[in-house]
Amino acid sequence: MKRLDDYRLTWDKQELVPLVIGGMGVDISTAELALEAARLGGIGHISDAMVPTVTDRRFRTRYVKDKLKKYKLNVANSDKSGVKFDLGQLADATRMHVGRTMEAKTGSGMVFINCMEKLGMNDPKATLRVRLTAALDAGIDGITLSAGLHLGSFELISDHPRFRDARLGIIVSSVRALVLFLKRAARLDRMPDFIVVEGPLAGGHLGFGEDWREYELWDIFLEVKQYLKAQGLEIPLIPAGGIFTGTDAARYMAAGAAAVQVATRFTVTRECGLPDKVKQEYFKVNEDEIEVNLLSPTGYPMRMISSSPAIGAGTRPNCEAFGYLLDRAGNCAYIEAYNREVERHPDSKSISVPDKTCLCTHMRNFDCWTCGHYAYRLKDTSHRQPDGSYALLNAEDVFNDYRYNLEPALLPLAASS
Ligand SMILES: Cc1cc2nc3c(=O)[nH]c(=O)nc-3n(C[C@H](O)[C@H](O)[C@H](O)COP(=O)(O)O)c2cc1C
Repeated sequence: MKRLDDYRLTWDKQELVPLVIGGMGVDISTAELALEAARLGGIGHISDAMVPTVTDRRFRTRYVKDKLKKYKLNVANSDKSGVKFDLGQLADATRMHVGRTMEAKTGSGMVFINCMEKLGMNDPKATLRVRLTAALDAGIDGITLSAGLHLGSFELISDHPRFRDARLGIIVSSVRALVLFLKRAARLDRMPDFIVVEGPLAGGHLGFGEDWREYELWDIFLEVKQYLKAQGLEIPLIPAGGIFTGTDAARYMAAGAAAVQVATRFTVTRECGLPDKVKQEYFKVNEDEIEVNLLSPTGYPMRMISSSPAIGAGTRPNCEAFGYLLDRAGNCAYIEAYNREVERHPDSKSISVPDKTCLCTHMRNFDCWTCGHYAYRLKDTSHRQPDGSYALLNAEDVFNDYRYNLEPALLPLAASS
């Protein structure tokens, strides 16, 4: 059997190692992680989720404080429709995040940005246009459109000078979603440069309903492949979700994948943005401690570790500071759930909201521990130290494990690092 490294993803004359580290929102897939992937010849992602918050932490900007100050008087108001992002600041923050990352890039690989379209930010079209445009301005190699795929996204940037040369791709979980997107793209004579086919075992939000168990990445991948062939379209296909070993990856490559996208195995690397304590939770988790729930206000199912502090928390909505999930009318499902619980327990000092979570606050604080289905196998990729904790891994070792190893694919990587 061939190994992942026996294949290459080729775009024009550029050859890449066919391994993509997927975007992991709110700086879990850090610039450091993405840059490692690029240095090693693959593709890494930074994320455009809550970028002003991320630049505050990384570069000491004050976007969150300033926004909160501006809308302070609205904090107790359940109507958030007036809480808007300053588009100039949003562009600046995105240019800073992307620009600094691209300046630091080495190696022959690429850095993309993962752009979640479900982040409505109380003005979905205008804010998305700004985010996409600013990322292109700042020299990002490519953009992966995900979560909520809105069909007009290409149109938003069709007049950008880099519209035809930056690598633009989409994440889909069904042929149906793909067909709709391709129809719109055809009107602009601009097909995506790659299609990530994400199955139900992925981390983050899932593009499936509660019946996600009935779907298999392998089947969806083959369906999409067949559809493209029937249409005479040669667009690189990148399966994602539950590809845990070099063997898994090689199997998809042998079946015609152009590359594979992975994420969960990198959550326990030094370069990943999760706090070290949280990385230990990922190492320790067992299969029956991982759930798929409907707590995300986006309405999409999301996979997370059951002991995530985000689950059941009764945080006051933080839209004046964050507000990334507000739709165009200024609504978020968490605000409704929170207000309902406050009404039910008027005398209670701290409440619990069982059915939704304040995703902005909890992702910002690394309290929503989203992971892929196979997170429970992470413990097999490291070794325990005398104090009982697991040794963190180097992204390079995990990358090379996918790249060069077949069976037995899981090595005690930390032992060598
Ligand atoms: C911690 C974590 C956060 C994620 N966040 C995002 C995200 O913000 N946007 C997105 O499109 N996908 C997100 N994903 C999905 C990954 O990019 C990737 O496609 C998927 O998890 C691959 O499957 P694997 O984790 O089983 O390797 C996330 C995955 C994880 C594990």
